Amino acid sequence: MAASLYLAVGIALLSAVSAQLRFSAVQPFPGHGGRTGRQLSPSCGRVQSGGQDDVVGGEPVLDGDWPWMVLLGERLGGRRVWTCGGTLLSARTVLTAAHCVSGRQPAALTARLGEFDTSRDDDGPHVDAAVASITVHPGYRGAARHDDIALLRLSRPVALGARVQSACLPPAGANHTGRTARVAGWGLTEFNGQSAAVLQEAALTVTDINRCEQTYRTQLNFFTRRYPGGFGGTKLCAEGDEKASCEGDSGGPLTTPGADGRQQVIGVVSTGFGCGVAGFPGIYTKVSQYIPWIMQNAA
Ligand SMILES: *[C@@H]1O[C@H](CO)[C@@H](O)[C@H](O)[C@H]1NC(C)=O
Repeated sequence: MAASLYLAVGIALLSAVSAQLRFSAVQPFPGHGGRTGRQLSPSCGRVQSGGQDDVVGGEPVLDGDWPWMVLLGERLGGRRVWTCGGTLLSARTVLTAAHCVSGRQPAALTARLGEFDTSRDDDGPHVDAAVASITVHPGYRGAARHDDIALLRLSRPVALGARVQSACLPPAGANHTGRTARVAGWGLTEFNGQSAAVLQEAALTVTDINRCEQTYRTQLNFFTRRYPGGFGGTKLCAEGDEKASCEGDSGGPLTTPGADGRQQVIGVVSTGFGCGVAGFPGIYTKVSQYIPWIMQNAA
């Protein structure tokens, strides 16, 4: 009796503490509340590698240029397989695609941070973080890939610094049509091609969403079945040269600098038709449409 009372009080205290923590996590940071929007981490979006920012088209990135890049691993049949990308949003939160993590057990997942060259161990330290919980957007429905967005809560906070850092969020509702953006990944999941050892990036342009939707609608007979109401304002299309559209890993970031120069993650690599097929831009989950959901569910 007494033991269960202690337990109940303990749980009540714990939930009060976690509610407090959650509350403090969603407060805007002073000075970043305006054009940059609300952030989960005050140090977000800064690159400290001193690397150049004007690399174009399917180039290896400079080590340290994508400190928010997450490599997502999954235990499959006793083996760890790298399956998807993700973006670090805070010391405990990873943003990824719902189709990468839906139906998985958190214990089966690993989030690797600070990775650069997957074939070497002497390219700088990386951190393998355990995943404590997975939050898939409630609107996500398998094949249709609507609301293809999910958050992972890491089991303990990772240290943020030059090598591992969070990306900023775009302001809620921001429209990035016409902007230059960059996508990065090891090319893990796309079309069973050989994945690259070193992180690759490509420069893309965010294209007009209506034109993109029209392209898919008229060229793909399953489009209407998959997206009965079209993209519904929650997708973003981006394309570059032929080589570029294949570089991103599912779940990985599409970023662009905000007015303050910090990198914001504006898209989550979701789907698209093939790899570098001319005229078919890649389809991304439009992060600016999910800011309240991210703020409510991030750790
Ligand atoms: C976004 O901006 C573009 C170009 O400025 C404009 O054509 C388009 O209508 C805007 N889209 C939305 C959803 O506001």
